[in-house]
Amino acid sequence: MELKALVVYATRYGSSKRAAEIVGKTLGEGTEIVNVEKFPSPESYDLVVFVAPIYGDGPLKPMMEYIERYKEKLEEVPKAFLLLALDTSGVVFRGELHGGILYSKPLVEAFEVPPFTASSLGASSTRTSSMTTTEKFSKGFTQ
Ligand SMILES: Cc1cc2nc3c(=O)[nH]c(=O)nc-3n(C[C@H](O)[C@H](O)[C@H](O)COP(=O)(O)O)c2cc1C
Repeated sequence: MELKALVVYATRYGSSKRAAEIVGKTLGEGTEIVNVEKFPSPESYDLVVFVAPIYGDGPLKPMMEYIERYKEKLEEVPKAFLLLALDTSGVVFRGELHGGILYSKPLVEAFEVPPFTASSLGASSTRTSSMTTTEKFSKGFTQ
């Protein structure tokens, strides 16, 4: 029987959309890939995969808003996630870990039954080609 999966992604510059497409292709033909801003209902899927970039201390806000909106329904569905970040290892400062796997904390702690966490954090760079010149300069990218 074909797996009916929903891959929801949030993105600013397109990297997470591309990652979601790769995940979707891997999962097979019964997979739908939808931007979280369309708020697709997670009901009636066998699996929901969240794909989102890290900005600041956690996943991009629209992803957390999506999870908040469908929290009860999502508790009932098997879930997995892939987060894209520059800092996948994190740093230890005064004996405490910052960044790295801890970026996934808001997403994991949003649920009673947490999502699968294998391979949860992928190294990624920003697709500057989809930034405007002003954005590039304001974020320190020179090319
Ligand atoms: C302004 C800005 C802030 C970022 N902040 C973080 C961060 O705090 N930690 C991190 O690991 N990666 C950070 N990143 C890297 C992004 O998570 C990464 O480039 C991601 O692939 C971007 O995904 P998107 O193209 O789907 O928006 C930041 C990138 C930008 C442009």
